[in-house]
Formats: sequence, C-alpha cells, structure tokens
Amino acid sequence: MPHWLITGGAGFIGSNFIRLALAREPEVRITNFDLLTYAGRPETIADLAGEPRYRFLRGDVCDAGAAGAALRWEGSAADAVVHFAAESHVDRSIADGEAFVRTNVQGTQTLLQAARRAGVGRFLQVSTDEVYGSLGREGRFREDSPLAPNSPYAASKAAAELMVRAAVETYGLAAVVTRGSNTYGPFQFPEKLIPLAITHADTGREIPLYGSGDNVRTWIHVDDHCGGILAALRRGRPGAIYNLGGGEETSNRELLERLLAAMGKPSRLIRPVADRPGHDFRYALDCGRARAELGWTPAVRLADGLARTVDWYRGHAAWVASACDREYEAYRERQYPSLASQPAETTAP
Ligand code: NAD
Ligand code: TYD
Repeated sequence: MPHWLITGGAGFIGSNFIRLALAREPEVRITNFDLLTYAGRPETIADLAGEPRYRFLRGDVCDAGAAGAALRWEGSAADAVVHFAAESHVDRSIADGEAFVRTNVQGTQTLLQAARRAGVGRFLQVSTDEVYGSLGREGRFREDSPLAPNSPYAASKAAAELMVRAAVETYGLAAVVTRGSNTYGPFQFPEKLIPLAITHADTGREIPLYGSGDNVRTWIHVDDHCGGILAALRRGRPGAIYNLGGGEETSNRELLERLLAAMGKPSRLIRPVADRPGHDFRYALDCGRARAELGWTPAVRLADGLARTVDWYRGHAAWVASACDREYEAYRERQYPSLASQPAETTAP
C-alpha cells in the first residue's frame, strides 16, 4: 500500500489535506509528522486517531533522524512527501524571523536530504504566492515571474523553494512546487485575518485593519487549495511550479465588510490600526498552467466559503477556546497594543 509522509498535518491546510487524501485515495496510508507548535493542535486531528491508514508522529522537520524514521513504515520508504510544515504567520516573522529560517529553510533542506536518502519518488513543496512580492493595481504573477519576497516569512519560503530546485537539478529529485494564495476555512489558527475577524466579531472585539485597508488578496477556500495540491502531487511535472489562486480579488476592507454583513455584525467593529511594515499591496495569480496541466480550477465562491467558515467557527467553540489560550492572548496584546483588551461591546459607552 503506498505511503505518503505529510509534514505539518496538525496545522490548518495540512489537516484538511489529510482528510481529503484519505477520502479520495483509498489505497494510500498517511504518516502525519508534526512538531505540534502553537499552530499545530491535537484537537485538529483528534478525529483521525482511529483511522487504520493513518498514524501520527510528533517530530521536528529539522531533526534528520526523526524525519528519516517518519519516512519508513513497516520497513519500506514513503512513496511521496507533501511538505506543509512551516512557521506561517507574516506578523510573527516581522517580530522575529529566526524560527522561520530554522523551520522553513533548514527544515526543508533536512527533509529533502532525508527524502533523497530514502529514495522517495515524489516531493511536493507547499509554497506561497508571497514569494513573488507585491503587485500594483494591474497584472498577475505567472510561475516565471521573478522571486521578490518582502517579509521574512516570504523570504524563508522563497529560500526553501530554491533548496527544492537545487535538489531537482542536482539529484534529480522528482519535486513539484505549488504556490497557493491566501487560504481560509476550518481549523485555521485565529491569528490569520478571516478567523481573527470571525472570533473577534463573535466576542464583540474590534477587528484590526492594517493601514488603508486597500491591500488586495485573492482568497482561496482550503478545499480548493488542497484539491490543487493533490492534483499537483498526482499529475505535476517534476521540477514544475504551479500557481493555485482563488478567483475573486478583494480588498481587506471589503472582505471584512462582507464578512461582518454575513455574520449580522456591525462594520463599526472594524478598527484601522498602524500598517504592517513592508505590507504587500496586492497579490494576484495567473493559474493557466494549473488549469491546463492539472485540470484544476477553484470551485468555492467566496460568499459561500465565508458563510461556511463562519458556521464552522461558530459550531466549534471548544476548538476556538483551546486555540485562544493564554499564549495567544499574550501574542494578541503584543501585536495589537492599541486595541481594547476588553470586548468592545462591553467597554463602549
Ligand atoms: P499552520 O501554521 O496552520 O500549520 C503549520 C504546521 O506545521 C503546524 O501544525 C505546526 O505544528 C507544524 N510545524 C511547525 N514547525 C514545525 C517543525 N519544525 N517540524 C514539524 N512540524 C512543524 O500553517 P498553514 O496555514 O496550514 O500552512 C501550511 C503550509 O502552506 C505552509 O508551508 C505555508 O507556507 C503554506 N501556505 C499557507 C497559506 C495560507 O494562507 N495559510 C497560503 C499559501 C501557502
Ligand atoms: P494574513 O491573514 O496575515 O495573510 P498574509 O499576510 O499572508 O496575506 O493577512 C491577510 C491580509 O490582511 C494582509 O493584507 C494583512 C491584513 N491583516 C489586517 O489588516 N489585520 C490583521 O489583524 C491581520 C492578521 C491581517
């Protein structure tokens, strides 16, 4: 039975990917290899525990011994690696980039070496459109657009991609890279904009909007993103890069207004705050290659995806409460010192 090693499978996209792969690939066994950092939560993967084609191993992608052991199941090496594990939040990388270089760059290199030594046939690097840097009002990034990352997070992801490229060119590793756009959906840690807005609005807290709020993102539902990663794993050309972008461009202000309207909450909860340093103005992707070569195109409309995501967060209060622990509260106080720490509705006159 084929065996896939999924790193970072206790996080947002990785956990959704594992559920999709177990459902769509009945012949595949999956090892979930994850360090369980603040973003990787046991509750996120609790439902997978009894699944016979699945096992969880806690470990660090920077630990060559642990990564090598995770690649073996009953003596045989993994057939494929899908590498999600990363430090993923731009604001945390601006505060301190060390962990981003360690996990995202060194961790990718360690995993690439372990995969090569084990003779793994396929390696999928989950990357991001942020490696391209920022666009003005016009144009879209293609896979051959230059790399021009602006945040420490984006730079670490670009560096990781270059280590993957080197492994393809030097050792003939059959690796594929996907560059996904801003993703939303169930199990996303509440520090990211959409779950932050949902959880703040539902507790009457203000929602920080950086700078002018005119920055543009193309949000992709996690089901679409995972479908694209699976298609790239199955059908992508070795050495190729595939953009996986959502369809609708939205400014951050418009996104929050639509989200609050869908939740039945007032837009006065939106609170302009200081801009993020080096804040990329706009991301937009040309996804023609993924459409032509993988037969992939996103299916979830933003309005439907947002409504489903609101329902999910409202229906998973225990998960939200566990994620919003004391460490997260301390992070929030550091990141948003100008925001009232008390819920806005209780402090408003
Ligand atoms: P996440 O922060 O929700 O999850 C990351 C997971 O990696 C966590 O489970 C964490 O415990 C694990 N991890 C962190 N350091 C580790 C280490 N040293 N060893 C093993 N595991 C470790 O991230 P996400 O949003 O699910 O993103 C997954 C991947 O997709 C990342 O590579 C990210 O760069 C990429 N990506 C994310 C988005 C997005 O909008 N979220 C968009 C495009 C690409
Ligand atoms: P985020 O979810 O952090 O993703 P990324 O930085 O990878 O794009 O942020 C999405 C956009 O929302 C980005 O333009 C920054 C902005 N933003 C806010 O305005 N307020 C916030 O509190 C957060 C977390 C993000």
